[in-house]
Formats: sequence, C-alpha cells, structure tokens
Amino acid sequence: LFSAITMAPRDPILGITEGFNADKNPAKVNLGVGVYYDDNGKVPLLECVKKAEAILMEKFAPRTYLPIEGLAAYDKAVQELVFGADSAVVQEKRAITAQAIGGTGALKLGADFLKRFAPDAQVWISDPSWENHRALFESAGFTVNNYPYYDAATRGVNFSGMLNALNTMPAGSIVLLHACCHNPTGADLSDDQWTQVIEVVTARGLVPFLDMAYQGFGDGIEADGKVVRRFAEAGGALFVSNSFSKSFSLYGERVGALSIAASSAEEAARIMSQLKRVIRTNYSNPPIHGGQVVATVLSTPELRQLWEEELAGMRVRIREMRAAFVAKLKEKAPAHNFDFVTQQRGMFSYSGLTKEQVEKLRDNNSIYAVDTGRICVAALNQRNIDAVIDAIAAVL
Ligand code: LMR
Repeated sequence: LFSAITMAPRDPILGITEGFNADKNPAKVNLGVGVYYDDNGKVPLLECVKKAEAILMEKFAPRTYLPIEGLAAYDKAVQELVFGADSAVVQEKRAITAQAIGGTGALKLGADFLKRFAPDAQVWISDPSWENHRALFESAGFTVNNYPYYDAATRGVNFSGMLNALNTMPAGSIVLLHACCHNPTGADLSDDQWTQVIEVVTARGLVPFLDMAYQGFGDGIEADGKVVRRFAEAGGALFVSNSFSKSFSLYGERVGALSIAASSAEEAARIMSQLKRVIRTNYSNPPIHGGQVVATVLSTPELRQLWEEELAGMRVRIREMRAAFVAKLKEKAPAHNFDFVTQQRGMFSYSGLTKEQVEKLRDNNSIYAVDTGRICVAALNQRNIDAVIDAIAAVL
C-alpha cells in the first residue's frame, strides 16, 4: 500500500513556516504566512481575549459537546456581525450561521454542501487567489477556474476583465470573492466596482461565496464588511465564510463560521438541516473554547469596544509599516517605485518580487516570503525592517 505513495510538495504557505522554523539564523524573518506580529515581533494575545478568558475561567464550566452547528451565542453574535443585527436577512430569519474550524473549515463546509446540492456547477476564483482556495474546492470535487483579477501593469484590478468573465459564466456558477483585503494581492474593488459586480452576479444567477478572513484590517470592521451586507440586500443565495484567526489573534483556536443567506426562514431551516449533516460526518461538532471567547467579547459591550480598539491598533501599525517600507526603499533602491504598497489593503503586499528574488532572500538572508512575491507586511517591525529593506534592495 505505502510503497507507491509519492512525496507531496510542501504547502505553498504553511510549508514556508516549516522551513522558517527549521532555520537556525537568529535574524530570520517570516514574511510568508498571514499572521500579525506586534512591534516586538510577537503574536499578540489581545487584552479583550484575556479578559474574556478570565470570565470563562471563573465559571469552571463542564466541557460538554456543543450542538452540531456550534455555540448558539457565537452563531448569533457572528451572524449579527456579518450581516448587521438590523438587516432584513437577520430580522426575517433568512440567514443561518454555523461555527466552523477557522475560515478554512468554513470554506470546506460550504464547498461540501455545494457539491451535494449543485454537483454540476463549476467554481471560479480570482487570478491569483489564496493558494488554498483552488486546492480546497478541487478536493471537494469541483472544477476550479480563474477569472481575471490582478493587473500587474497597474498593480490594481483588471476590472473589465473580471466583469467580462462574470458576464460569460453559466448561471449557477459559484464565484469566490474576497470581501476585503484581497489575498494575495492587497488590491480591493472600489464601492462602485462592487455595485457592478453585485448587479452582474444577481442578474446572471451566479452563486456568490464571499471569503472574509481579514475583516477590520482594511478600513475598519464596518467598512470591510459592507460588501457582505450589500450582497445580502440584493437577495439570492449567498455564502459567507469568515474567520477570527487574524482579527482576534486566535489562530490556533480555529474560530470561524459559515453563514448562508436564503430567501425565506423555511428555506434557511432546510439548509441548516443539511449543513448539519455535512458537519456531523466531518468532525461532529466544533471545539468550545475559541467560540466562547469570541462570543463573550462580541456580546459584552466593554470587551467589544476594547476589541475594536485593539483591532484598529493592528490596522494602524500595518499602515505605518507600509509607509516605512516605501520610504526606506525609496532611499535604498531609488530606481524602483514601490508607492503601490501603501495603496494595498490588509496584511499582504504583492511586492512584484520574482520567485528567484524570493529564493535569494531566503538563501542569503533567512527572509521568507511566498514564491509569488507575496509578503506579509504585518510581520515587519522597527527591529527587522531595515534588514529586510537592505536585503530586498540587494536582490532587486
Ligand atoms: C495566509 O494566507 O497566509 C493565511 O490565510 C494562512 C493560511 O492558512 O494560509
């Protein structure tokens, strides 16, 4: 059985962390994975999380099984965050939300559910997209296609290409869209462009699947989540995966959710009954701790306020690092223009570095980035930025 098994390649993102962890150079820098580090180079444990954990700890509550769809208080709080408590979908009970094992788990639940009920549909993801999108939908059995997205010449979005592609997809096609902070490019659509996308998706009967893993890292919680609400208002089937890995710095707790908006409460109930079967046959029910922490923070006004402040702090620090990155490169590599880095949103910059340059950074300086040139700006800090800039200037 085992002799015929070939070695699989390392994961394009998490495989970088494996290489980084094995590197003995004390000056190593991991700009690969999408993780926020503070200015001391540490993954923060948010104050709001500490306070919520203190409240939970005092309860010494038993660790019983959660319901298949997760903690009710969590699902409710997440649904209100995602769609808005006063939105029509929430008020009319047309939305369902199930706790998931991180954003990836939410995508997988959505993919397995869709494969069951739309087996002949094809999936469309942006070119480029998060590496795992293709792998995940393919492993659920779908054919995965790309729609044009990034325009390397303008460092922005090839919007006419994207719109043309949407206009030619067969009805029922599943379109994966990044709600904010596009991963890997950092290039987002404008409000006006979203209006056009929503129009086409609705008119052609496409199935939008919004992936929102970085809410709060672009322009703020409200602003980043706006497109989800706009899609929900447009009516039609809607899938939303969201994650608290980054926004709560709860990476290892695997806290995310899948929300689906339907056209009636009765339809939503049927959807939930089937989604529960998908969950039950995958992992039965989700773990308890991370969901309790997020539910406690979101539903306790002082903690929620604190969370919003802490998230804003992370967002501002990333912006500062973008500005410093551009200013320092202007000095060290004046022939190259990196101004676009300050326009990009979220944790990432599609830096334009080639695979060869990325390899040189790794081999010469123990600086790790994704082969595509994606760098995690959220891993830069006052201590490592000069070394990173010198190394990039040397490979340019
Ligand atoms: C990333 O893109 O680096 C993050 O979403 C982490 C991951 O799971 O790939």
